[in-house]
Amino acid sequence: MVEGRPLRRRNGRIHRARARLGHSHLTDRHALKLRHDVRQALAEYWRTQGELEHSSVVAYQDLARRLEMLDAPESLVRRSLSAAVQEADHWTRCFDLAGRYLGQSLRPGRLRRPMRLPRSRTAELVALAVETLRDGVINEAYAGRLAAAKAERATDQRVHDTLVIIAADELDHSSLSRDILDWCLAVGGRPVYDMVNHMVTTMPTTTTGIALPMGIQSRTLGDHGLLDADPDGSMFANLVAEVRDELGVRLQGHRLDAA
Ligand SMILES: [Fe+2]
Ligand SMILES: [Fe+2]
Repeated sequence: MVEGRPLRRRNGRIHRARARLGHSHLTDRHALKLRHDVRQALAEYWRTQGELEHSSVVAYQDLARRLEMLDAPESLVRRSLSAAVQEADHWTRCFDLAGRYLGQSLRPGRLRRPMRLPRSRTAELVALAVETLRDGVINEAYAGRLAAAKAERATDQRVHDTLVIIAADELDHSSLSRDILDWCLAVGGRPVYDMVNHMVTTMPTTTTGIALPMGIQSRTLGDHGLLDADPDGSMFANLVAEVRDELGVRLQGHRLDAA
């Protein structure tokens, strides 16, 4: 399961950089009250979340550059760059939380933008539409909904505040992705239309949940943002159904243009 927009290598595999330990020792009396194994589990969880958020920064910078190369509307490029700034805020907050449980600061590893081979404009628009639907429209909305559910459950104030911000931003990134997809459909003609139409009918409606650490009370973990917020997968299935319905209507509008 991926939360938010991942950074993909050219072969489609998801890529993130392992965070490194910083030099500052941190003390937080709320975190230090927790058992050692609980702190370790929470530190590992927030570290992974931070690493994924960090890779989203590069993903949005790469997206902005690709949109620019395609002469996309300036507003889409600008919003992608703003999304990168928001993702940077997310990793900072996640690493702050991880460091608080760990008792030591964390800093991100090094990530580069993926190398892009030259492609035809049509092939690039098709690739962008596929990635935008899967990684933006769906993954970002799912990340937003998961974060909102975790925020509702979290009793720790810093965790709660972090999740509220992430939830709002990821939903915003999903709206941006819908607008990018609309633009791809508007300018991409038949090939983009056919690919999106195919994806709408073949999109998976199931996802894998997260594995919670064994031997720790789930209530304590939930207080600090670590929980399976979609245990029966219905949140994901409902989201895919909504996206399908909504896209079905929009595809009708594009059919005549693409014909
Ligand atoms: Fe994010
Ligand atoms: Fe995002």
